[in-house]
Amino acid sequence: MAKVAFLGLGVMGFPMAGFLARGGHEVTVYNRTRAKSDAWVAKHGGKAADTPKAAAKGAAIVFSCVGDDPDLRAVTVGANGAFEGMAAGSIYVDHTTASADIARALFAAAVRKGIHFIDAPVSGGQAGAENGTLTVMCGGEAAAFEKARPVIAHYAKAVTLLGPSGAGQLTKMVNQICIAGLVQGLAEGIHFGLKAGLDMKQVLEVIGKGAAQSWQMDHRGKTMIDDQFDFGFAVDWMRKDLRITLEEAKKNGAPLPVTEIVNGYYGEIQKMGGGRWDTSSLIRRFRTI
Ligand SMILES: NC(=O)c1ccc[n+]([C@@H]2O[C@H](COP(=O)([O-])OP(=O)(O)OC[C@H]3O[C@@H](n4cnc5c(N)ncnc54)[C@H](OP(=O)(O)O)[C@@H]3O)[C@@H](O)[C@H]2O)c1
Repeated sequence: MAKVAFLGLGVMGFPMAGFLARGGHEVTVYNRTRAKSDAWVAKHGGKAADTPKAAAKGAAIVFSCVGDDPDLRAVTVGANGAFEGMAAGSIYVDHTTASADIARALFAAAVRKGIHFIDAPVSGGQAGAENGTLTVMCGGEAAAFEKARPVIAHYAKAVTLLGPSGAGQLTKMVNQICIAGLVQGLAEGIHFGLKAGLDMKQVLEVIGKGAAQSWQMDHRGKTMIDDQFDFGFAVDWMRKDLRITLEEAKKNGAPLPVTEIVNGYYGEIQKMGGGRWDTSSLIRRFRTI
């Protein structure tokens, strides 16, 4: 059992850190808004620190799950950042969905300090975090990964090293590209079926057993029919992920025509006030036009 720290107790980080405590690790948490760390300690025990640096002191592994690149920069190399508090040989595992560029920059900064950095974005959403069944996509060095893997496994069903620093974030981009087009296809199919007068719940039962089956169809089809979006993976986060992905595509030259269009559609959902709605809310565009 190890002494570990977890920075960022949001929708994802709060339950993930909880699995570490239940797994027997000695956990110190940090959250920018102190009330959340106090609530976490009241539920799981452990300690709360006032800065990322204080939380990281003495930890064998420091985890984070914050919002975007600037937030990750702040908790790692900002004032009182975690890197200042970490001892040589310790490991930083970042679960934020961020750019591959910042992953590589933090990997290089970590090397200069004699510490290890693994980019480890997750897939599986709030339910995956709460049930401990996330898929974790990692980039970094094999030796550090092997040390961190059994600890990450407390909240994951799959933990995989996909290549050097940045490979985890690049894999997450592929994940989001695949989801964006698929959700739009599902929205079009469901809307078409409803317009055609079909019983769409029955239709999804049937085609969900064939080649059109997908995680999105299984978990979001019924709620799309029922016009429910007050849960799940927020459109604001998806837009952030697609922005990062489209910027990376400009650099590597891969055309992303469908992803670009769907990114624009998500922009329309934000203008409708749906920034916090689940990504399956793409179908709402058809209900207002
Ligand atoms: N939600 C999902 O279904 C899902 C699925 C896969 C991946 N992700 C990714 O996981 C990450 C976290 O998502 P979430 O849903 O947990 O978000 P969230 O509920 O909004 O939580 C974000 C956390 O980051 C902290 N934070 C943000 N900016 C910070 C800063 N500058 N300095 C210090 N702390 C900061 C927040 O602190 P405060 O409490 O003070 O605001 C909060 O603890 C994102 O990168 C997201 O894209 C989310």
